[in-house]
Amino acid sequence: MKKILLTGSEGQLGQSIIKINSLNPEYTIVPTDLRELDITQAKEVHRFLQSEPFDLVINAAAYTQVDGAETDYETALRVNGTAPGILAAACRETDTGLIHISTDYVFDGNLDRDYQEADAANPINAYGRSKLAGEQAIARAGAKALIIRTSWLFSETGKNFVKTMLALAQEGKPLRIINDQYGSPTYAGHLAEALLFLAGKRFHPGISLFHITNKGFTTWYHLAMKVFTTAGIRAAVTPVPSTGFKTAAARPARSVLSNQRLETVTGYVMPAWETGVETCLREIERLNSIH
Ligand SMILES: NC(=O)c1ccc[n+]([C@@H]2O[C@H](COP(=O)([O-])OP(=O)(O)OC[C@H]3O[C@@H](n4cnc5c(N)ncnc54)[C@H](OP(=O)(O)O)[C@@H]3O)[C@@H](O)[C@H]2O)c1
Repeated sequence: MKKILLTGSEGQLGQSIIKINSLNPEYTIVPTDLRELDITQAKEVHRFLQSEPFDLVINAAAYTQVDGAETDYETALRVNGTAPGILAAACRETDTGLIHISTDYVFDGNLDRDYQEADAANPINAYGRSKLAGEQAIARAGAKALIIRTSWLFSETGKNFVKTMLALAQEGKPLRIINDQYGSPTYAGHLAEALLFLAGKRFHPGISLFHITNKGFTTWYHLAMKVFTTAGIRAAVTPVPSTGFKTAAARPARSVLSNQRLETVTGYVMPAWETGVETCLREIERLNSIH
């Protein structure tokens, strides 16, 4: 059984990877988060990878506060920009494969079609710049790596748009939600399934880049409406333009990623984003009925 070192194991994606693997254990996963392995600490990372043989590292650790990165760019860059290079160097030394997660926010959002892997990155906020720096650091380190860009991640765990919408609607307050930013909401459970599928493949020297999101695209407003209709919640929601909504970080207007390369090269097809929302809400309901 392949052995995977998972970083950021307490985040939404980390938790989803552990859960999906536990349903049908195909891998031995060694979960680590900040307490067990701080990926910014080069010595610790090298020691960890040399202490026992791993087939693969999945880096689900990141600094994910998009607005926070504007004022704390130093931390964002250390975790998202420098640490992936540290991981990649340790992977190269120990002949370990690496799957690293990046973001649609490396793009400026000005393209009038879905972004393909070969399109030029041009981040418009600090978080996107820090994540692009991470991709470049991995390329410089020269490991055998897959860099996966995903977008608008949500799950039953952690803090995300879907859970925030449910909480706000339950408070009964009227909501104003942006209706002019387009992206592909992605259920972390579906991304985890795709990553574990790729983890079973042979890794070759060099970097392969793949976009993986749930299929289709929408706006934040329509995503919220899908959450409310699926959950059977009546909410007073007004669609608003992003100009009426001040945030520290600018967001791309249209950062839809094309899964075409994933489908052509591997045959893997992601479920629709609506299915992602429905699956996530069922999981939230299941967890609520247990607690
Ligand atoms: N969330 C999105 O909408 C989105 C969209 C596109 C791409 N992505 C990418 O997808 C990946 C997974 O995102 P996610 O939403 O699952 O993130 P998340 O829930 O914020 O989880 C990230 C985890 O990494 C941990 N971490 C932070 N700094 C670390 C360090 N130095 N060493 C080890 N662990 C550290 C965090 O701990 P603390 O919580 O204690 O900081 C957290 O447990 C990331 O690469 C992210 O950039 C996310």
